[in-house]
Amino acid sequence: MRVLALAGDGIGREIMPEALRIFAIVQGRCGVRAELVEGAIGTGPLMDEGNPFPAATETEARNADAVLFGAAGDPSLDHLGPKRPDSAIGALRKLLNLYGLVREYRIADAQLAMSPLRPVRARSTDFAIVREISGDVYAAQPKGQRIAEDGPFPGEVEGFDTMRYTESEVRRIAHLGFRTARARSGRLVSADKSNVLATSRLWQRVVAEVAAEYPDVALTHQLADNTAMQLVTDPASYDTILTANLFGDILSDVASALTGSIGLVASVVFNETGQVYYEPGHGSALDIAGQDKANPIAMIRCVALMLRHSFDRPDLASTVEQAIDEVLAAGLRTAEIHVDGTTLVSCSAMGKAIADRLEALLPPD
Ligand code: NAI
Ligand code: MG
Repeated sequence: MRVLALAGDGIGREIMPEALRIFAIVQGRCGVRAELVEGAIGTGPLMDEGNPFPAATETEARNADAVLFGAAGDPSLDHLGPKRPDSAIGALRKLLNLYGLVREYRIADAQLAMSPLRPVRARSTDFAIVREISGDVYAAQPKGQRIAEDGPFPGEVEGFDTMRYTESEVRRIAHLGFRTARARSGRLVSADKSNVLATSRLWQRVVAEVAAEYPDVALTHQLADNTAMQLVTDPASYDTILTANLFGDILSDVASALTGSIGLVASVVFNETGQVYYEPGHGSALDIAGQDKANPIAMIRCVALMLRHSFDRPDLASTVEQAIDEVLAAGLRTAEIHVDGTTLVSCSAMGKAIADRLEALLPPD
């Protein structure tokens, strides 16, 4: 297995070493064999060689079985347009043909006080969102601005986008949704807007067809606005949510907020060739970068996800997750989740504490 680690910008450079510290422990002790390569992406290579996604990184990404990505982006360089540092994210996703993003949201009892929801609503929350990320209104053409020919104000400039999915695109993400639900508790909610959108009516039909291949998974169709409401009022009722790019973008940010911090949530992204890509749910957080303040947990969860999906070691993935839970239960908190009665720790101290717990939890070699 070849693992490519791309720390990137801002807090990516602080959280990646903590994730690699965890990976080194399982590599050293548990028979996980992997070649680890580190590559450059974002502002660093942009400054050094004028390209945020250099050819060497592109080659490494092509050859990697798994990519661990930190973050890329610097809003002060947004004026560079197609050469801005975070353009590398899109270029990398395109190169790898990534289409399906799965993000897991769990509120462990130790996390209850961090959730903006009252404990009675937040307790037992544990669900996944499977989001299509290659198509939909974000990607489909035509889009742009033009002079309106009809509508309430003809002659004015209007903006327009195209919502579009083909049957194959829906079928591909539906299979990922059903496989994800099958590996969890077997309940899948497909969120769409079939009451108003033709694209969603196609989506609903194809998802229902794919369901025939997964008789062990219980499928429900739900309108996405209702899903947004129920995520806040009864998140514990969900197991797996399947949705398109636009609705998934919004629902997944609502879901991240429920857990208490964007610094706790990690994603796994799939293509059709078996390469898998892992990233935290947040960006480069330049407001706190370089201060050893970032929460490394999302990045460390990426290692757990990688052990589960790329190394087929769910046992080790669960042990890493348990180490995180135990450190949170012991009251350690990075700045963004620190409250009275808990212990404020730095990024590196949090990483070290999780590593120490992991060492203690792993069986002796
Ligand atoms: P952001 O996720 O970087 O930060 C949003 C807020 O959350 C900030 O207040 C930040 O301090 C906090 N935060 C984020 N991660 C944290 C962590 N691990 N621990 C503690 N606090 C954390 O989003 P923002 O500020 O909108 O974007 C900053 C840059 O990152 C932009 O250039 C954006 O384009 C890029 N970006 C990159 C992503 C990626 O690499 N996948 C995703 C989102 C944004
Ligand atoms: Mg978003």
